[in-house]
Amino acid sequence: MPIVSAQIIDGKAIAETVRNQVAVETQRLISESGIIPHLAAVLVGNDPASEVYVRNKERACHKAGLKSTLHRLDATINQAKLLTLVHALNSDPDVHGILVQLPLPKHLDSMQILDAIAPTKDVDAFHPENTGLMLQGRPRFLPCTPAGVMKMLELTGVRTAGKHAVVIGRSDIVGKPMAALLVQKGIDATVTICHSRTADIGAVCRTADILIAAVGIPKFVKGDMIKPGAVVIDVGINRVGERLVGDVDYAAASSIASAITPVPGGVGPMTIAMLLQNTLTAARLVQKRSQAAFTH
Ligand code: GUN
Repeated sequence: MPIVSAQIIDGKAIAETVRNQVAVETQRLISESGIIPHLAAVLVGNDPASEVYVRNKERACHKAGLKSTLHRLDATINQAKLLTLVHALNSDPDVHGILVQLPLPKHLDSMQILDAIAPTKDVDAFHPENTGLMLQGRPRFLPCTPAGVMKMLELTGVRTAGKHAVVIGRSDIVGKPMAALLVQKGIDATVTICHSRTADIGAVCRTADILIAAVGIPKFVKGDMIKPGAVVIDVGINRVGERLVGDVDYAAASSIASAITPVPGGVGPMTIAMLLQNTLTAARLVQKRSQAAFTH
């Protein structure tokens, strides 16, 4: 097998394309309806990684012409007070999207908080109503990271129909929805989900035409787990010392795969781009509701 370097799937460039499109559509919505899409982000405590994520989300909103407000709460806030804030944002007509940055401090019940977000403002698409709609192929919002991966595959021209896609990881945020999107009609991949109890995970991964790693373990995917010519998508963002490292051994993988996402600069920027897309969608829901009220 000659060693040829894989095509690098440039998440930064693809995310910019998506963000520019959102910016154009945002201006159109504003000029048509006066509605400025507005994301309300909630940050509890001051976890450094969360601080960076939230700052990047705010910056991306402003650059694309969306409004963004950050609600900073002390790490010691109790469940009832946080729920009160979520309820206030739910009933604020000026707010279209609500994002509670995870992880929350351990004394808080994250699931109860996320379930309290109005499904029509749930731009993370974590609410079970939005999960159900997605599973049934009639999504309101798509979860940002899996949606970002789908967008990358689409814009890179990766064929999915009839291909074997293997997803490593079964989280509610990435693994499970990723598999659900790959199997949907029109995408038509044959999907396998691997996890910590999968027998001979290497052998399963080696059968993948599209391999998606979302395990959260640095360099978990070794070169010998990749089928020559496979498309490798690395969702991992692991901090190792000062460096960010993916779930894939990039150096080994890039001489075996046909295309691969780098870390950083791969899936990461896509997540934020899709969040902007969802916030625009949420604002459009409000526009549609007010149009419907006007015509009835
Ligand atoms: N923490 C890490 N990723 C995410 C995300 O996509 N959404 C939220 N709310 N918190 C996160």
